[in-house]
Amino acid sequence: MKKVSFTQMKDGTREDYEFLVAEEIGHTKHTADRLLKAMTELDESLSGYQVTRLGHCVQSATRAWRDGADIDWVVSALLHDIGDIYAPYNHDEYAAAILKPFVREQCTWCVQTHGDFQMVYYGHHLDGFDRNKRERHRGHQYFDDCAAFCERWDQASFDPDYDDLPLEFFAPMVREVFDRNPYDKDVIRPGAREPLVNAASAAERDKA
Ligand SMILES: [Fe+2]
Ligand SMILES: [Fe+2]
Repeated sequence: MKKVSFTQMKDGTREDYEFLVAEEIGHTKHTADRLLKAMTELDESLSGYQVTRLGHCVQSATRAWRDGADIDWVVSALLHDIGDIYAPYNHDEYAAAILKPFVREQCTWCVQTHGDFQMVYYGHHLDGFDRNKRERHRGHQYFDDCAAFCERWDQASFDPDYDDLPLEFFAPMVREVFDRNPYDKDVIRPGAREPLVNAASAAERDKA
């Protein structure tokens, strides 16, 4: 396999860097597959709940799907806790960093801040936790969306008896999202708000 000529970046040539850019484009094509593989690692993490972390993520995505939410929402729900593997203290920001170039700004923001919003469900049971941490985001254009994201999909998805769709069901959606051009303005659509619940689309999916 061809390799660059340099051992220090400052000695690299134009040819080296053009070669590396082409290599990198090849590498990025497999992002979705790497993420799906990482999701399976979540199956072992965080004991004590009645569902595994993968089970929680798949259940969140299944609820989003059955609410008729669009692909940006469904993939964001699926990946929202992927940061638990490597970034347990800021897992929300970690997941948001992965999603940011490929989904609507609205979805990235909700994934990024969901940790603060989730505290409303448990903060009062623990010393040193601020149940009202989400209030620091009050007034933000996506506040209500994140509140709904947590209420409908995140906090609700710890049920071992729920009828989850399998991870494979969501794989084509993950591939579609991560095949997009990064930071495409028609995808990011700053300020745009799509509903989490779309009754017509939910009914369509119900029939399928
Ligand atoms: Fe989380
Ligand atoms: Fe979660």
